[in-house]
Amino acid sequence: MHKLEDRTVVLGVSGGIAAYRACELCRLLVKEGARVAVVMTEPAARLVGPATFQALSGRPVEVGWGGASSAAGMEHIDLGRDADAIVVAPATANTLAKIRLGLADNLLTSSVLASRCPLVLAPAMNTRMWENPATRENLAWLHTQARVWLVGPDQGPLACGEEGAGRMAEPAAILEAVCAALRPADLAGARLLVSAGPTREAIDPVRYLSNRSSGKMGYALAAAAARRGAKVVLVSGPTALPVPPGVEHVPVSCAAEMAREVKSRAGRCDALLMAAAVADFTVARPARAKLKKDRVQGPLRLTLVPTEDILASLGRARRGRRPLLVGFAAETGDPVPAAKSKLEKKRLDLVVANDVSEAGAGFEVDTNHLYLVEKDGVREIPPASKEACAERILDRLAERLKTRR
Ligand code: PMT
Repeated sequence: MHKLEDRTVVLGVSGGIAAYRACELCRLLVKEGARVAVVMTEPAARLVGPATFQALSGRPVEVGWGGASSAAGMEHIDLGRDADAIVVAPATANTLAKIRLGLADNLLTSSVLASRCPLVLAPAMNTRMWENPATRENLAWLHTQARVWLVGPDQGPLACGEEGAGRMAEPAAILEAVCAALRPADLAGARLLVSAGPTREAIDPVRYLSNRSSGKMGYALAAAAARRGAKVVLVSGPTALPVPPGVEHVPVSCAAEMAREVKSRAGRCDALLMAAAVADFTVARPARAKLKKDRVQGPLRLTLVPTEDILASLGRARRGRRPLLVGFAAETGDPVPAAKSKLEKKRLDLVVANDVSEAGAGFEVDTNHLYLVEKDGVREIPPASKEACAERILDRLAERLKTRR
């Protein structure tokens, strides 16, 4: 079965060098069964000939303000209204800025403005443009929009000869995002609690012990689950990430707060996904006032005591009376044996294991490489963006919830 059978996808191509890689995306969309309507900006059409996209999509290609396919001259509304999804690849800094501001100065941007369907954006630009505060601000706003799916950019060599963030994501990853955006709401009605980010264990009022979790994995899960129709509560340690649209956010700081907020809500949930990196130890007696360097004689000794293991506490409740418990296992080296042991010891239903010493996996990075460990076996999720990994985890969760009901 083709994933995009009977779906109409508008492929917007804006004027970046990566426009040539949109040809491959067009081919993949058609291969998955989509009717692909290509809309190019004029700068894009100077980089790649519209005839190439016409041959790949089998349909007329619109350039600039268009005019190729609609006799009534209403393409700026028709295209967006009739699309099941719009994907802009590459999305240049300029086009992203226009979308953020609601500008409609060509057929691509006006189709986006006149549409309500999922909008997949694959940014591609020079690293300094990507890091510019104006682009960061536009991205932060786009992140808060329920219909927007951002894919990439990747790190790597850029057309300008520089190296860094700004390379358009792989066409296969963009196709994956389009498929995910059009997936039916298979988690509608499910109540999920996702934990994310690090905890901070106070040493004194200004210092703390923490870890490298950025929250990206947990936030990707929360965002994807909300998009798939679930009611999501995100209990999160401190992160720099925007709260995904439609998600209830419960900010916490230390492991004890995380335990309190998770445990008080767990009984009302169908599933709990613990992506947070909760501290295993906390400071026994944090100082009430800032520790002064010159008042400490010799080495400063901290006494650390274990925190409550939240998952293990919840795992002790009888199965059937508790939510489906999904733990993570952050290991260095082969994570599967430790994940199997956590599955059993904490009485979990599923453990998502990652080797945090592997390049492109674990803490802080935008990608991960995972293993889903269950009683009946292990499934690998090959290296992919955290968003794509989140979809795979939720595919399995949706199956488990279905058999539970
Ligand atoms: O946030 P990112 O930068 O995107 O990084 C993602 C990640 C590496 C944090 C994530 O993929 C991950 O592995 N999260 C779990 C980190 C962790 O604490 O693993 P652990 O093996 O130490 O703990 C096992 C499980 O027990 C985890 O689900 C954890 O949330 C839970 N736990 C741990 C301690 C504790 N006191 N209570 C718990 O419930």
